[in-house]
Amino acid sequence: MICDSASLADGGKGVRFEIPTDSGLQPAFVVRHGGTVYGYLNRCAHIGIELDWQAGEFFDDSGLYLICATHGATYLPDSGTCIAGPCRGAQLAQVEVCEMEGGVYLK
Ligand code: FES
Repeated sequence: MICDSASLADGGKGVRFEIPTDSGLQPAFVVRHGGTVYGYLNRCAHIGIELDWQAGEFFDDSGLYLICATHGATYLPDSGTCIAGPCRGAQLAQVEVCEMEGGVYLK
């Protein structure tokens, strides 16, 4: 399990975790948007560093967009598409997650 469902508020703080990949453990995160939980690798499409300057802070002030703390790349939370900033049009790498029985899990 990545976290309890209750720990993810809509547009609120995200939860960081790591997933095993061919190149070792990679940082990832989950957030809730419009009631649905979305997961992404914690790697900005701009220069590949983590998005959250303060751990778990992925949303901008509006709570509607994910934002990279470094140069302000702004992403749609439901698709991971960058809509503003230095890597406009690029994508966050999606991590398949699901929610059941009060928990959030890797698929
Ligand atoms: S590293 Fe994210 S916007 Fe530059």
